[in-house]
Amino acid sequence: MIKKSLNILFVASEVAPFAKTGGLADVALSLPKALREMGHNVIVVMPRYYAIDKAKLTHIEGSLGVPMGYMGELWAGVYSSKLPNSDVLIYFIDYEEFFGRGGLYDHYGEAYTDNDNRFIFFCKSVFSLCKMINFKPDIIHANDWHTAAVPLLAKSRFAHDFGDVATVLTLHNLEHQGTVFKGAMDILECGWEHFNPEAYESVGYINMLKGGIAYADAVTTVSKKYANEIKTSEFGFGLENHIRAHSYKLFGILNGVDYSEWSPKYDDKIASKYSAKDMKGKLLCKRDIQKHFNLEQRDDVVLIGFVGRFAKQKGIELIAEIIEWVLGHDVQIVMLGTGEKWAESYFSHIASRNGSKFAIHVGYSDDLAHKIEAGSDLFLMPSLFEPCGLNQIYSLAYGTLPIVRKTGGLDDTIENFDEAAESGVGFKFEHASPHALYNTIMWAVQTYYNSPKAFKKMQKRAMSMHFGWDDAAKSYDDVYRYAIYKKRVSRLQY
Ligand code: ADP
Ligand code: GLC
Repeated sequence: MIKKSLNILFVASEVAPFAKTGGLADVALSLPKALREMGHNVIVVMPRYYAIDKAKLTHIEGSLGVPMGYMGELWAGVYSSKLPNSDVLIYFIDYEEFFGRGGLYDHYGEAYTDNDNRFIFFCKSVFSLCKMINFKPDIIHANDWHTAAVPLLAKSRFAHDFGDVATVLTLHNLEHQGTVFKGAMDILECGWEHFNPEAYESVGYINMLKGGIAYADAVTTVSKKYANEIKTSEFGFGLENHIRAHSYKLFGILNGVDYSEWSPKYDDKIASKYSAKDMKGKLLCKRDIQKHFNLEQRDDVVLIGFVGRFAKQKGIELIAEIIEWVLGHDVQIVMLGTGEKWAESYFSHIASRNGSKFAIHVGYSDDLAHKIEAGSDLFLMPSLFEPCGLNQIYSLAYGTLPIVRKTGGLDDTIENFDEAAESGVGFKFEHASPHALYNTIMWAVQTYYNSPKAFKKMQKRAMSMHFGWDDAAKSYDDVYRYAIYKKRVSRLQY
């Protein structure tokens, strides 16, 4: 049976390549494109941050009025463009006072104090935009706390025009919930009755994510394992009971990979392209990385890469504990990342003492991220929790075997190496302890040196794996139908 195509409005605070701090931006680029390929009519909306050059966008005539409670109506500009290599339109909400800043969410790690107003404004602008461009969504798909006010806004403040629209909220990371002062209820203008412990309230504050979970018609997260983990106190960041209460509408859908961006066959950012059939180029990529980072030029040494935010989530404290033990062996390590200041200076200090074996680039560089994925033999990702994780999946595509902790999407995507059974694509450990990490790194290093044939076979297995967005898009399609059905039923009941 051919299903009716849907009008989907996808709303996110970051979308690659326009603005990116992490995996959300990759998802917000790839999923709308995959939904479009299924035949849906999709548009994407994000803020126009300072770094997004207006000159490269199309200006939409007219102004967008956004009601902001006692702040009155604020007037924004609207620009548009298309997602690269697609016909999916993306709209940018331009309001200098809120988004004309260097950072997306913070200034060098200090969250902006008006993030509540900034993102409530953004959520509300989505409804005004629909009217301005005459887009009638069947689904509004929101992501993380920044856009989590959308479900309640659709049901309350904008119900007269959007009361029939079903809403879906995707949880990319439970750690960030958008906890703000309760006075922001007056800016939300949805009614103080929603400020209660079953909805928006968390011990006297507004919790945006909590409210979003309560009011969305369906909630998704980015792997099946994480969907279960967040029901526990270890991973729920205080929302575990709330999530359990709403688990009947919670679905785990694994992210995919955009292989036109992340594949050694097509990657223009790496020194030499290669494939599972012809791996010669991978060695050239390794030499390129050694040269770039001024490491000793050696083909026979194992090279371990790390790319990611320097945040506790990513297991950087564990890495800090063991890095000198690992450097006592015949290895090379390269790190690319930015974030917590102690980590930036600690790893830089270790690098300055181990120049020929360990190097770090503190900062954000997409080019370098691709080069490290391609040039490394092993990829380090010992996250304490990981909703999905994209880097370990990119690593598989480049034949760079991941060392991961058994959590969230890392556990769902990486099968552990079993030499006797000739199976597995990476090296996993369970306990978040320095010793477990160290032992697992050593296991991977020994496999590289002592079982080169098994290592190479594992690389081929990794490279043959496929995590396409087409599969994920089909699962989202199912969730959208569920949300629409649920919305209809609830409207019949009230
Ligand atoms: P998270 O979203 O938690 O940061 P993911 O693994 O889902 O983790 O996605 C991280 C994305 O951000 C990947 O595309 C990765 O390559 C990119 N990334 C992270 N840090 C950097 C950096 N310092 N430079 C370039 N890309 C980075
Ligand atoms: C979050 C998670 C990461 C996930 C990404 C995209 O930032 O930390 O695990 O891959 O969102 O969903």
